[in-house]
Amino acid sequence: MADVEKTIEDLLTEGRTFTPGKKLRKNANIKNESVYKKAARDREKFWANFAKELDWFKKWRKVLKWKVPHSKWFIDGKLNVSYNCLDRHINTARKNKAAIIWEAESGESVTLTYWELYREVNKFANVLKALGVNRGDRITIYLPMIPELAIAMLACARIGAPHSIVFGGFSAESLRGRINDSKARVLITSDGGYRRGGIVPLKKNSDDALTDTPSIEKVVVVKRVGDKAEIKMKKGRDLWWHELMEKAHSYCEPEKMDSEDMLFMLYTSGTTGKPKGIVHTTGGYLVGVYATTKWVFDLKEEDTYWCTADIGWVTGHSYVIYGPLANGATSLMYEGTPDYPDIGRFWAIVEKYRVNIFYTAPTAIRTFMRWGEEYPKKYDLSSLRILGSVGEPINPEAWMWYHTHIGGGRCPVVDTWWQTETGSILITPLPGITKLKPGSATKPFPGIVADIVDESGKSIKEGAGYLVLRNPWPSMLRTIYGDPNRYVDEYWSRFPGVYFTGDGAKRDKGGYFWLLGRVDDVMNVAGHRISTMEVESALVDHHSVAEAAVIGRQDEIKGQAIVAFTTLKKSARHDDGMIEELRNHVAKKIGAIAKPDEIIFTAELPKTRSGKIMRRLLRNIAEGSVLGDTTTLADSTVVQSLKDQYEHLEG
Ligand code: WT7
Repeated sequence: MADVEKTIEDLLTEGRTFTPGKKLRKNANIKNESVYKKAARDREKFWANFAKELDWFKKWRKVLKWKVPHSKWFIDGKLNVSYNCLDRHINTARKNKAAIIWEAESGESVTLTYWELYREVNKFANVLKALGVNRGDRITIYLPMIPELAIAMLACARIGAPHSIVFGGFSAESLRGRINDSKARVLITSDGGYRRGGIVPLKKNSDDALTDTPSIEKVVVVKRVGDKAEIKMKKGRDLWWHELMEKAHSYCEPEKMDSEDMLFMLYTSGTTGKPKGIVHTTGGYLVGVYATTKWVFDLKEEDTYWCTADIGWVTGHSYVIYGPLANGATSLMYEGTPDYPDIGRFWAIVEKYRVNIFYTAPTAIRTFMRWGEEYPKKYDLSSLRILGSVGEPINPEAWMWYHTHIGGGRCPVVDTWWQTETGSILITPLPGITKLKPGSATKPFPGIVADIVDESGKSIKEGAGYLVLRNPWPSMLRTIYGDPNRYVDEYWSRFPGVYFTGDGAKRDKGGYFWLLGRVDDVMNVAGHRISTMEVESALVDHHSVAEAAVIGRQDEIKGQAIVAFTTLKKSARHDDGMIEELRNHVAKKIGAIAKPDEIIFTAELPKTRSGKIMRRLLRNIAEGSVLGDTTTLADSTVVQSLKDQYEHLEG
């Protein structure tokens, strides 16, 4: 892990600590460190206590069945996630409380109270049923951040049809791949979406995707953009959301789901070119997101809570929708980007709604830093109480800036480590009790057994190694959809019997965890998870490319930037036009988020004698660090000439 040594050095010099303020501590949901000991003493009881706060049609018989690497939680329990997010609030004082406050990019806004959201969800659940959707059928959702997205997911949960949400930034080809892998019967999309004033052609992308998706029978289309979208509706296949809703009945009996029934699947990048459908189930997932939302964000009844993630990613699933709504909270949902119409937009929203809890990604924080503190200064941010960070390691400098300029020095920053696979937050401070160190995600959530191990799987008490999880937790993924062997291979074979996260981490003297980034072939670009192999396959798919090796190079703002070393076929043009063409080709194959930041043409790639590309050396070249050991190379001149070429290009 030579490439993470620099980061470790930076972190080791970080000595500042922050204790929670008096008032916050006094009012915190969790005030006492004893929760850790109590949870460790009886983990099953710890989770069952949260489960008891939810509504079950039938109580579980047994909390956990665990046979490595398969866990089952709340055995034989019956519940419904939409019931827990809606029905159980509407007979309380929360009936007319805002469930979702939606702020459009245009500044228009819509508030859905629990009662209103309940009614919309019931109606759309009936729409899906009328389309012939049965319990267990998969539904793909490809929507922008509009209220219909929340309504659609909860309606799926209500009738027991697992959703598979595809982020609106993914290409038609990515959408097609995900639809075919899940064999979804219905696609829910919109005529388009707004982004920085422009229009994202979601329906057009859907049409392109659907040229070869035999499982799709119906497409429900939300009218978001109107005439400007210039779409075609295909007779017999495409139906307008608003027309279907007009006739829909306003009550739909929630399905009594088993704890272990699939709630949703969500595709994420792994170490091969093919994205994997992470499977989450009903009972355990709900308990996990319910508990962590309540404790990590110190959630109060009167709070306005804002997680800026797009619902197309797991953070949006767990912390825009399911976690907050299971808690009866007011969750803000924002359609747009932080820089539109101007770079004060986020702070204007915090001021407008008096947001109390704000949860975003380090990439965004570093961007705000670059824009300057004068922007947040123009707004009243005094309502903020808790700040969250997620998606990638947060460097101490960004942490301090966030704490100082957004949090006014009074708000704890909860740096939350987790993954699509973990379903909910696993390493995090608890804001009322944890002493914070800028850049550290601090400690495992109560009941979570995280460890750091060396190559042989031996625990490292102090120092750096691989982050693993030694015990099951309720919201853990159950499998990879349609590929149970890959589930075992990817997570449970590197260190037998324990879950391997793919992350490097360091533990300090005080037992605090410091996350160091991925140690596998997965990149983290502006908080987006992209596999090097996926980008490589997209590149070699182009007729001019012979071979490609992709690496993530450290980047000040995005965490990592994508660099592609590419060998073109002899006949191909080696010019700037080709670089643009290849970048666009990757965008077309995967989505704009995967566009390489740099493409370097090279006659050869550094390989070992057995033909394996040495990505470590490529990373060293791109980061301008010393090359290190090159003795295993088949031809050591390749790497030196590549380094010279790269340095020349960079000027
Ligand atoms: C990977 C998971 C689940 C949140 C959104 C990303 C990195 C996530 C942190 C953090 C350092 C973090 C890890 C992880 N990551 N949170 N607080 N500190 N790294 O979900 O797309 O499944 O990516 O994001 O590398 O493995 P994801």
